[in-house]
Amino acid sequence: MKVLVLGGDGFCGWPCAVNLAEAGHDVVIVDNLSRRKIDIDLGVESLTPIATIHDRLRAWEQVGGRAMSFVHLDIAREYDRLLDLLRSERPEAIVHFAEQRAAPYSMKSSATKRYTVDNNVNGTHNLLAAIVDSGLDVHIVHLGTMGVYGYGSHRGATIPEGYLTVEVPQPDGTCFTEKILHPTDPGSVYHMTKTLDQLLFFYYNKNDAIRVTDLHQGIVWGTNTDLTQRDPRLTNRFDYDGDYGTVLNRFLMQAAIGYPLTVHGTGGQTRAFIHIRDSVRCVQLALEHPPEPGEKVKIFNQMTESHQVGELARKVAALTDSQINYLPNPRKEAIENDLIVDNRCFIELGLKPTTLDDGLLAEVVDVARRWADRCDRSKIPCLSAWTQRQAEAIKAFA
Ligand SMILES: NC(=O)c1ccc[n+]([C@@H]2O[C@H](COP(=O)([O-])OP(=O)(O)OC[C@H]3O[C@@H](n4cnc5c(N)ncnc54)[C@H](O)[C@@H]3O)[C@@H](O)[C@H]2O)c1
Repeated sequence: MKVLVLGGDGFCGWPCAVNLAEAGHDVVIVDNLSRRKIDIDLGVESLTPIATIHDRLRAWEQVGGRAMSFVHLDIAREYDRLLDLLRSERPEAIVHFAEQRAAPYSMKSSATKRYTVDNNVNGTHNLLAAIVDSGLDVHIVHLGTMGVYGYGSHRGATIPEGYLTVEVPQPDGTCFTEKILHPTDPGSVYHMTKTLDQLLFFYYNKNDAIRVTDLHQGIVWGTNTDLTQRDPRLTNRFDYDGDYGTVLNRFLMQAAIGYPLTVHGTGGQTRAFIHIRDSVRCVQLALEHPPEPGEKVKIFNQMTESHQVGELARKVAALTDSQINYLPNPRKEAIENDLIVDNRCFIELGLKPTTLDDGLLAEVVDVARRWADRCDRSKIPCLSAWTQRQAEAIKAFA
């Protein structure tokens, strides 16, 4: 099948693209390379050395992978080129990773808030409008986030896969039941863009019968898949800085360089996680099980386990004999939350999760320790504050 992978040069997109090529699909990577540019602006680099997109593609062909092509295109700003691309490539499916994905980066300043909204909401809307203009029947697989459900208390309720069945009271005292989109509760401007994406999908699915699978993904940990390990030029990125580094990968890197593990707040925040290998597998499963024509947006919770941040820090500290440092929380969020998640859709489709217990130590030894000397310690602190109040708390602590 012809698949466009939007954002295919990124952390989740690159291993996904090579996996789809390996599975025999005809892959076109579309990316504006904005993530690499943000690294330059922030003065940081991936812990792992990453090759240019052109070297990645050459390396992939040299190790015997099915050739992929690359189109340098900004989906949020180059509508006509995006539409021309759809008309010339006529893809059957599009995997959409192409968004600004860091909550802390989105909260850095009004400029990064506006950039995140412009980029993410326009990009998703351009894609939907271009599919309508092209007249093609394309299945979109979009990477959303578990964060759309919010990280407040769900009072022990299990978070369903996207839709909630509610009872609506009638004036005559009776009730009818309805399945509605689960209410959203974004915790950052980034998360807010993902909740807006959901509404865009809902609308275009209803109005234009666009087929969409929205993957509400947990925090991705790990770095490589078997395929990206085939050649050093295929290596995936590993972000550890205060804006883009995700919590578990940061702990692993901190443990590798003997830096006390940074827990912000009490550590009682519960989050959902998934290994990069499983993320890649889930996207393939979603592509292979598209919604039927006329079916409403399919929503899967793409996560395999939930953990409290403090519990994760203790796990990594015990494995690596590290210290833990409790710091003021730059985020405005609940001190503690529950998170019980229904993820049956992927398990029923055959996903065999990589658990933390299987993969953690290998990740510390193979990746974080191997590249520890590339780490710039000055980039580790999380300095993007959600409000002035959090900014002052961080300043007072420094
Ligand atoms: N990494 C995670 O833990 C995680 C968790 C949940 C959801 N997600 C979602 O998965 C998707 C991919 O995340 P990632 O970690 O790979 O991020 P990433 O920043 O590494 O990759 C995103 C890619 O999209 C490209 N891009 C951004 N805006 C673009 C535009 N307007 N036009 C073309 N290309 C553009 C970037 O250059 C980059 O290569 C995001 O939508 C993110 O919200 C990621």
